[in-house]
Amino acid sequence: FETPDQGKARLLTHWEQLDYGVQFTSSRKFFTISPIILTGGIIPPVAQQLHKENIQRIVQEALYTSGISPSELSAIATTIKPGLALSLGVGLSFSLQLVDQLKKPFIPIHHMEAHALTIRLTNEVDFPFLVLLVSGGHCLLALVRGVSDFLLLGKSLDIAPGDMLDKVARRLSLIKHPECSTMSGGKAIEYLAKQGNRFHFDINPPMQHAKNCNFSFSGLQHVVDKIIMQKEKEEGIEKGQILSSAADIAAAVQHTTACHIAKRTHRAILFCKQRGLLSQSNAVLVVSGGVASNLYIRRALEIVTNATQCTLLCPPPRLCTDNGIMIAWNGIERLRAGLGILHNVEGIRYEPK
Ligand code: KG4
Ligand code: ZN
Repeated sequence: FETPDQGKARLLTHWEQLDYGVQFTSSRKFFTISPIILTGGIIPPVAQQLHKENIQRIVQEALYTSGISPSELSAIATTIKPGLALSLGVGLSFSLQLVDQLKKPFIPIHHMEAHALTIRLTNEVDFPFLVLLVSGGHCLLALVRGVSDFLLLGKSLDIAPGDMLDKVARRLSLIKHPECSTMSGGKAIEYLAKQGNRFHFDINPPMQHAKNCNFSFSGLQHVVDKIIMQKEKEEGIEKGQILSSAADIAAAVQHTTACHIAKRTHRAILFCKQRGLLSQSNAVLVVSGGVASNLYIRRALEIVTNATQCTLLCPPPRLCTDNGIMIAWNGIERLRAGLGILHNVEGIRYEPK
């Protein structure tokens, strides 16, 4: 495009038609029958193979749907970290070939930066703002001061909330549940929780006395594991069968997760306001990542933002989970800011962290 703004206009026009765009990271939603539905988790070599088989078609479709020819591109933006090495490697080598063929600049993208900036594609949001990223692989709170200027306020000390919800869903064998067998673990928990009563199980939120903004989910996972084991005994059923109390367990784990996330976020908002890092009257909290599509968790966060005079913003659900649009948008943000645009890609490789 002649200007980054033209690129933005094109992305805004077409993002709903782009079927998952060009997703170079872990590929839960990339394929009609994704590896996670068949296996209950990503198997890296399978994901890699599926990336190899699909990447060319997906790139062609993305260009076709947007009505642009490769020569019109301003640059090629690709995730280089963090993520599954095998999948990111496929995206990266494909992109570097394109860069070489088309003689375009290359913009390496950090997956979490892309999640954080997505909101600026769909809403007018100025820096600084607070971002909460909650997904299957990540959990962090950061103050976003600029396109590549992040102050990390807190992160998970063990696993991410989506990972924990996926593990609980797997332990509850929700993949065999007639109503939620095709959903991701987190979505299945949300679906089932609506039919359950959270008061049937009393689970303490993690880290209630920690004076920081970090998170922890593995203790919660173990507590829920124990509850499930106990219930299996009581109901006299084998591991792998569906408990009659599965919906109550889903409701309790979702509630505890929401409380924990909301409390840590509340601390972060207060910290930023006290230090003058965020405006007292019109601060913005952006919530993104796959777990942000959970409406119960969003409502808990709404209570926090209402109490602290903040505005809560979430990208549309399809832009909250992993997608290629956010990578393209991050590229445009970097083009506009003149940041990290490489004209020589020698030595560029996948970076694990
Ligand atoms: O951001 P994402 O698509 O991929 C990465 O992990 O980077 O997030 C996927 C995670 C999965 O763990 C999935 O179970 C969770 O987001 N998730 C949800 C919901 N939808 C997806 N968790 C809770 N409630 C949901 N509705
Ligand atoms: Zn992600």
